[in-house]
Amino acid sequence: SNAPAHDAHGRRINYLRISLTDRCNFRCFYCMPEWGMQFAPKPELLTNAELIRLVRIMAQTGFEKIRLTGGEPTLRRDLVSLVEAIANTPGIREVSMTTNALLLAPIAQQLADAGLKRVNISIDSLNPESFRKITRGGDLARVWAGIEAAEQAGLTPLKLNCVVVRGVNDHEVLNLARLTIDKPWQMRFIEVMPLVGVADVADNGVVPSNQLIAQIEAEFGLDFLGWYGADPARTYQIPGAQGKIGFISSISDPFCATCNRMRLTADGKLHLCLLRDNELDLRAALRGSSSDEELEALVRHAVWIKPWGHGLPDGVKPTVRGMSELGG
Ligand code: GTP
Ligand code: 5AD
Ligand code: SF4
Repeated sequence: SNAPAHDAHGRRINYLRISLTDRCNFRCFYCMPEWGMQFAPKPELLTNAELIRLVRIMAQTGFEKIRLTGGEPTLRRDLVSLVEAIANTPGIREVSMTTNALLLAPIAQQLADAGLKRVNISIDSLNPESFRKITRGGDLARVWAGIEAAEQAGLTPLKLNCVVVRGVNDHEVLNLARLTIDKPWQMRFIEVMPLVGVADVADNGVVPSNQLIAQIEAEFGLDFLGWYGADPARTYQIPGAQGKIGFISSISDPFCATCNRMRLTADGKLHLCLLRDNELDLRAALRGSSSDEELEALVRHAVWIKPWGHGLPDGVKPTVRGMSELGG
């Protein structure tokens, strides 16, 4: 049936985030340990054909929005043809991508032509030296080229993500916020979350959004625009600015009640909540003899048992998957 899937808590789940690879060309210190992670061997990753079949089936259960993530999704070979196939799947209304933009400039236009609507790009610092430190080697100039190429290709409205960590980049928040005065971008400040491999970064690193809001308001003034449905960000604007400012406050103000999403890991597990360990093995079903109907039933079951929300308030931290396997 084509009835949209609801979970047991009445949330309509229509947004799938697909991790295309667990590998990354950066090693952001809040995401991965310096030595990387235990990366999945190639044969364990879903193939394009498997992904396309799965997206078709998930669209039948009411998934309308796909976001490609990683690791770093631009490391995936055949990314352009994959985007095209997903964008052409009946029922899929939007395909977007979250990227570090290092490799984006040369392919931005091809991706747009293939049907990619927009990109969210991480930028944690405006200072090349501290950018290099945070990402452990990232080249800020190339990322800027990626941002400009994305804008020219019309992969907009552009959202820029900054994970704020106390003592590392919190002093740059005003400069990052200032970007929105002349640019039609949404600059989003994200509270750092404790994920496997980097859980200690969040121990003293979380800067509550309300502190940043007060700081930005004192400098520029700040109007509250709203908090729309399942958007994780509360949206604000500097009076008269071209762009907007968003705050993603998973720690100080969780948004689980309006959650609309699930994740597909690169190795084909449906991961039901970012910060919980629950998952369901779709790869086994895909590679077994499951029919489309059986796969659809599995997906509906997974949606139904999606956990209500994360366990951080009770001190429960995720223990199975790192951020690079989950795509944020
Ligand atoms: P759009 O709203 O479609 O633009 O994208 P998005 O904000 O959902 O995606 P993006 O990949 O840019 O994620 C931004 C930040 O939000 C990242 O730090 C994610 O980890 C975080 N985030 C995304 N989804 C969830 C979620 O379900 N729960 C929590 N706690 N954080 C999330
Ligand atoms: N806490 C919050 N956000 C994170 N991201 C990566 N690791 C973390 C973390 N520990 C962000 C990235 C990217 C998005 C997909 O997830 O910066 O913008
Ligand atoms: Fe959804 Fe889980 Fe994220 Fe809460 S923590 S918003 S339930 S994925």
